[in-house]
Amino acid sequence: MSSILDNNPGLAYDVAQVAEAAGYLWQKGWAERNGGNITVNITEHVTDEIRNMPAISPVYPIGVTLPNLKGCYFYCKGTNKRMRDLARWPMENGSVIRILDDCASYEIIADNPVKPTSELPSHLSVHNYLIGKGSNYKASLHTHPIELVAMTHCKKYLEKDVATRLLWSMIPETKAFCPRGLGIIPYQLPGSNELAEATIKELGDYDVTIWEKHGVFAVDTDIMNAFDQIDVLNKSAQIYICAKNMGFEPDGMSDEQMKEMTVAFNLPK
Ligand code: 13P
Ligand code: ZN
Repeated sequence: MSSILDNNPGLAYDVAQVAEAAGYLWQKGWAERNGGNITVNITEHVTDEIRNMPAISPVYPIGVTLPNLKGCYFYCKGTNKRMRDLARWPMENGSVIRILDDCASYEIIADNPVKPTSELPSHLSVHNYLIGKGSNYKASLHTHPIELVAMTHCKKYLEKDVATRLLWSMIPETKAFCPRGLGIIPYQLPGSNELAEATIKELGDYDVTIWEKHGVFAVDTDIMNAFDQIDVLNKSAQIYICAKNMGFEPDGMSDEQMKEMTVAFNLPK
């Protein structure tokens, strides 16, 4: 069977990266059943041939109007599809969609009519926001990392930047590789427009946000970079919890050590 990936190395590479990242999410235990979702803005790889491809689905409403997405194309994980399956068969467990000219609806064009993730309002609202501010970020990733989600069950860590400072202080590199920290988003219904709006608000200040008692939502230039930001934060959360399990409160890096690190790596304050 022919695929939209045929003769399009740029697009094939992006989708292969998504599949690789999906495998990591499963291996880490962050992707139970259909948990988590990925979208990538693939518009830069779209050829005339792709633009002329007919729809293979009805037109679906997005639920919000997103003016910057006119003529954009996205690879999306399918709703109810498993990351562990997507890792091996990305075009059977996800699809490519085209945003229509009304900026409020989309259709599936390839390879199979796999309905996109239930978190599409959040993902597409975020892409609309990123394009609007001229960002070169193309990928957004939602996943359920165990230790970071556990922390959101405690009010203390839901206060602004409390978790960020704690996690940064567990290993020097955490701030270097997640320099904007972790934005906190109070609980909202999964898949809702309210969750999408709250996420965009926090992305002004953070690349990685956490949905209380649910999961992380991160953006970056590509899917591997988005994954890495979550991975370094969750590693710090594991170190914190590991120390607590050994029966002590970890010291964390001192303010002076954090300051030295910030200057040496030229990081934002
Ligand atoms: P989907 O299977 O619709 O992508 O949902 C998974 C999820 O994590 C919802 O928040
Ligand atoms: Zn989720």
